Amino acid sequence: MSTPSFDQDFWERLWTKTLRAHGDAVARRPPNAHLTAEAAGVPPGRALDAGCGHGAETLWLAAHGWQVTAVDFSAAALAHAQSMAAVAGPEVAARVEWIEGDLSTWTPPPGRFDLVTCLYVHVAGAVGDFVRRMATAVAPRGTLFLVGHRPFDPDTGAPTAAANQVQVSVEAAVAALDPAEWSLDVAEERPRAVAGTGVDAVIRAHRRS
Ligand SMILES: C[S@@+](CC[C@H](N)C(=O)[O-])C[C@H]1O[C@@H](n2cnc3c(N)ncnc32)[C@H](O)[C@@H]1O
Repeated sequence: MSTPSFDQDFWERLWTKTLRAHGDAVARRPPNAHLTAEAAGVPPGRALDAGCGHGAETLWLAAHGWQVTAVDFSAAALAHAQSMAAVAGPEVAARVEWIEGDLSTWTPPPGRFDLVTCLYVHVAGAVGDFVRRMATAVAPRGTLFLVGHRPFDPDTGAPTAAANQVQVSVEAAVAALDPAEWSLDVAEERPRAVAGTGVDAVIRAHRRS
């Protein structure tokens, strides 16, 4: 069987199929527990949700007062996310700017965001380059929050749902962030909530100044 390329066409087809078959279930997906744990209680500012998908994290942030720029290259995912924003009400919806863009070419505005979050995005090129590009968008003393699903379960060696994808790893993120500019608050692999589904690489860093 050939390996999927995880490009725009792949994700658009996947989201279209998933939302058609299980739109209600997708709408009920909770926001990412790593993000809600790390961001709870942080004073809201400007956030970038890079690869926002169905929008649960974007809407959680907006509901907690953040002004969110949400980027994804799947029009189907964005349409779903926008409809969920409308359900959340005008106050929440008004806090989100939705951008249909490809993160491999879309350049975030430098230094603009107090929080840049990127969860489970397949990286088309070198992970280090991607991490540095996302990091440029972080404002002085702002936070970079990255999570990647590792392709193999470290205990069993079994492939995970992220097999064949290139996602952020602890090693690549740590190597990409210049310690003179960045303080690493979290850089660890955490077991996923469902046993046997592997581990997540979780990185939280803040720009020193
Ligand atoms: C596994 S989903 C994760 C969605 C969301 N971040 C979450 O945690 O639920 C990966 C998302 O990244 C998007 N994506 C992948 N590569 C991208 C790229 N190069 N540019 C923009 N979006 C991308 C996909 O369309 C998909 O919505």
